[in-house]
Amino acid sequence: MKQMYIGKSGIQVSALGIGAWAIGGDSSWGPSDDSESIRTIRRARELGVTLLDTAPAYGLGHSEEVAGRALEGRRGDYILSTKCGLRWDTDEGSLHMERDGVKLRRNTSAASLALELERSLRRLRTDYIDIYIVHWQSLPDFPVPVSETMTFLLKAKQEGKIRAIGVSNVSAEQLTGYLTCGQVDLIQEKYSMLDQAKGDELFGLCDRNGVTFQCYSPLERGALTGKYKVGDPVNMGRAKAGIKWYKPEFLPRITALSDAWAPLCKKYGCTMTNLVAAWTAAQGNGSNVQVLVGARTTAQIEENVKDITLEDADIETMRKDALAVEHGGA
Ligand SMILES: NC(=O)c1ccc[n+]([C@@H]2O[C@H](COP(=O)([O-])OP(=O)(O)OC[C@H]3O[C@@H](n4cnc5c(N)ncnc54)[C@H](OP(=O)(O)O)[C@@H]3O)[C@@H](O)[C@H]2O)c1
Repeated sequence: MKQMYIGKSGIQVSALGIGAWAIGGDSSWGPSDDSESIRTIRRARELGVTLLDTAPAYGLGHSEEVAGRALEGRRGDYILSTKCGLRWDTDEGSLHMERDGVKLRRNTSAASLALELERSLRRLRTDYIDIYIVHWQSLPDFPVPVSETMTFLLKAKQEGKIRAIGVSNVSAEQLTGYLTCGQVDLIQEKYSMLDQAKGDELFGLCDRNGVTFQCYSPLERGALTGKYKVGDPVNMGRAKAGIKWYKPEFLPRITALSDAWAPLCKKYGCTMTNLVAAWTAAQGNGSNVQVLVGARTTAQIEENVKDITLEDADIETMRKDALAVEHGGA
């Protein structure tokens, strides 16, 4: 499995990481089988995946708890990232969303983060987080200066509770604000071959500042595996419902993409999912993109982990085909 460094932190990870959002279950993804989730996290490591990403908000603590159980006795084998800045147990903060009757609020104040960090450490059964990521940024009705958030994070780093700082769902302006306060080693952003806007906005800034661009939902929450056809039963939790490529006007175009890429799959001895992950990893400056793929079954992770390097001409063909999906298909 290819390796890379996270920003300037000195932390080395596999270029493909496993994301544990779906493992949290709830209405976002529908129910998850915890035993299978644990097997999946451990199987990922056997296959060479060293980075595991979770967050308190995934299943309101459930994803972190399952991750904590999976890593028990093997914590040192993983680079663990979790997040902060979303609370569901207080009225203090801006409304982020309401899910299953619970209001999630954005709160990146130092006092709130201090509480969250201790809770995450407990749920994860560890005394340090490798990469601690500010999940969503503060909104005008509960503004928290980035300097306050960063002062807390830098102190947590000095104390050895976290090893590196990440931020997520940021604009270029917000990332610049963080960088003026101190070292940020990673940003985590929605990016896929069908949705490249955040890369266009942030690849250059990351490159210039030695920040790793970690992309989430690179498979468009399963749509880009090419496995779903119109009319197929899809477990359509909120996470997938938010993906436009599952809609009947787009899904046939992805099927067409999968057909068009059959020769590429044959050439590289891989599946469409592997092509998509490899294409994504080749973006940015070619070595600063980390691909975070969600999986909650051993079958999924066994398929998703495949080390392939695409030729430049194939990367270009895939780029053009992907851009055509929006406007009518390959
Ligand atoms: N910072 C943020 O705001 C943010 C937001 C979203 C995600 N993330 C992180 O990024 C990670 C990855 O993103 P994501 O989970 O949204 O999307 P993703 O990686 O694009 O898709 C993951 C989902 O695709 C399906 N899938 C994966 N491999 C498959 C395979 N081989 N065959 C068929 N289906 C397959 C599974 O759905 P089923 O389980 O339903 O089968 C899986 O849960 C998350 O887990 C999370 O850690 C962060």
